[in-house]
Amino acid sequence: MAPASPGSDGTDRRNGKSMTRGFSRLRTVSLLGLVSFAAGCAADAPQDTLRPEGSIAREIDNLVNPVFLIAAVVFVLVEFGVLFLVWRFRHRKDEADDGTVPEQIHGNIPLELGWTILPALILTAVAAMTVSTVLDIDSKRDDATTTVEVIGKQWWWEYRYDMDGDGEGDIVTANDLVIPVGETVELGVTSADVIHSFWLPSLNGKKDAVPGRHHSLVLETDEPGTFVGQCTEYCGLSHGYMRQRVVALPRDEFDAWVDNQMTEAELPAEGTVAREGADLFTSMCSACHLARGINDEDFEELGEGTSDEGLVAGRAPELTHLMTRGTFAGALFNLWEPSDGEVTPDWSDIGEGGTVNREALAAWLRNPAGQKPMAPDERRGMPDFNLTEEQIDSLIEFLVTLD
Ligand code: CUA
Repeated sequence: MAPASPGSDGTDRRNGKSMTRGFSRLRTVSLLGLVSFAAGCAADAPQDTLRPEGSIAREIDNLVNPVFLIAAVVFVLVEFGVLFLVWRFRHRKDEADDGTVPEQIHGNIPLELGWTILPALILTAVAAMTVSTVLDIDSKRDDATTTVEVIGKQWWWEYRYDMDGDGEGDIVTANDLVIPVGETVELGVTSADVIHSFWLPSLNGKKDAVPGRHHSLVLETDEPGTFVGQCTEYCGLSHGYMRQRVVALPRDEFDAWVDNQMTEAELPAEGTVAREGADLFTSMCSACHLARGINDEDFEELGEGTSDEGLVAGRAPELTHLMTRGTFAGALFNLWEPSDGEVTPDWSDIGEGGTVNREALAAWLRNPAGQKPMAPDERRGMPDFNLTEEQIDSLIEFLVTLD
């Protein structure tokens, strides 16, 4: 507090000043609060938890809405009740304090029974709704037409599709989880290094990815489309850049996608720039990346964390069909140019008619850790290979053949 200025009205001035300061501080804090609150609002937020895009998310929404309503009514009644009582029975200046206390209601049986039984009834109703929703969502697992193992890695997601029910991943991909629209898909969420959390706000709640455990999560979408999410458990340097997408396709397109994913990549013809890239890829990238049909033997020898060159998480994204994904590096960068006005590419932007984002690929290969925080010294994330521009060009020429 500022020292009081001397003078006959010193005290008054000091009080006036500190009141003004208090008021302006209150105004600043309220304004900051309002700005932060408003910053959370957006007309078209892709990660809006309150806009369900499938039956499972809708069921959760149908639980949240009545529970929130009940909580809101209780909040308003209690808060305004307290404020009213404080105001109604406040100490008045002209009242002498004669030491008497107001009439006490302790031991009033109807009142005490009332405020014990009413909350118990409310909580029982909320519990009944919650448990029935949880059981109902859990039972959807039985309808699953596709099962996918989802593996959190620093700092991206790997997906392994078990197509023949033998528990093995027949398709291995990353970042974009492709699913058939209108069908239930069961995910077994786990991790290869630290704890992550898989979250697609418009499709279901969060599910922790814990090493050594498989947590079941079901997804279902109403419409074809692209749905975005992100890792929600702090998992190190690039936690904030660990994103994921779900691409929901009609059944026939999904089947075509599966058929294509099951094929191997083809080695580009001898003497082409792409072939130079493929050779470079095999010699430099085999400790972490696999492109089936290209570097299987080298990857078997060096990959999956079998050598000290590999990653803590075992392997980097499989690249056999890299170009069928919309994004790369933990869905942080667009691999294809998105349609006008869109943030990430959708299915129609990928493949024939689309444009590959070569600049982003080149920037990544030039200096990976400069594009996204990583710790290659600790075998977490992609190292910098000091590639020449010529090598980068040939690698990209090769990568674009992986469709
Ligand atoms: Cu993975 Cu945070």
